[in-house]
Amino acid sequence: DLTARNADLKALIRTIPDYPIPGIQFRDVSTLLLDGAGFRATIDRLAAMIEAEEVDLIAGIEARGFIVAAALSYALGKGKVMLRKKSKLPGATVGIDYALEYGTDRIEMHLGAVKAGQRVLLVDDLLATGGTALAGAALLRGQGAIVDKAMFIVDLPDLGGAQRLTEAGIEPITLLV
Ligand code: PRP
Ligand code: ADE
Repeated sequence: DLTARNADLKALIRTIPDYPIPGIQFRDVSTLLLDGAGFRATIDRLAAMIEAEEVDLIAGIEARGFIVAAALSYALGKGKVMLRKKSKLPGATVGIDYALEYGTDRIEMHLGAVKAGQRVLLVDDLLATGGTALAGAALLRGQGAIVDKAMFIVDLPDLGGAQRLTEAGIEPITLLV
């Protein structure tokens, strides 16, 4: 059944203790990405968890989120907007600073990339505290986008991200817990 098969996918994600700082159990998706069949199954199952008609545009968060967002963009036939880390985009940008499980960062997007009223699906590899996803949603909403769903390969429920997203009106859709 699907739960058992999802367990196989979860086993492809390794855990590295004390990275990037002491006390963090780092869920490393690089080992899932090495497995072609596993990555294809991951994307196929994520794509099956949403109707293409519900989405106008996909937003991927640098860097690991880009890998998932690009594959989902292809699978659903939707364009994507890059939410990039600080100072990577050549055009005029809007940005937001945020905190995540192990530090702080900044993401930016091109002005004009998103049109008011577009339904944007936020995509990342992993949901921890939700700080990154909430920042992405705030950035997109600031440009008039509708952000009511966010998709991840993995959720770390103990860190509260899913609850924070739900409270912000964003349904978290995750394959593995
Ligand atoms: C990781 C991960 C998510 C975020 C989740 O990215 O890919 O974007 O942390 O944490 P949060 O829910 O507590 O915000 P990271 O900033 O480490 O960047 P990377 O993708 O470049 O490795
Ligand atoms: N991003 C935030 N927390 C993380 C964790 N524990 N493992 C991998 N990526 C993360």
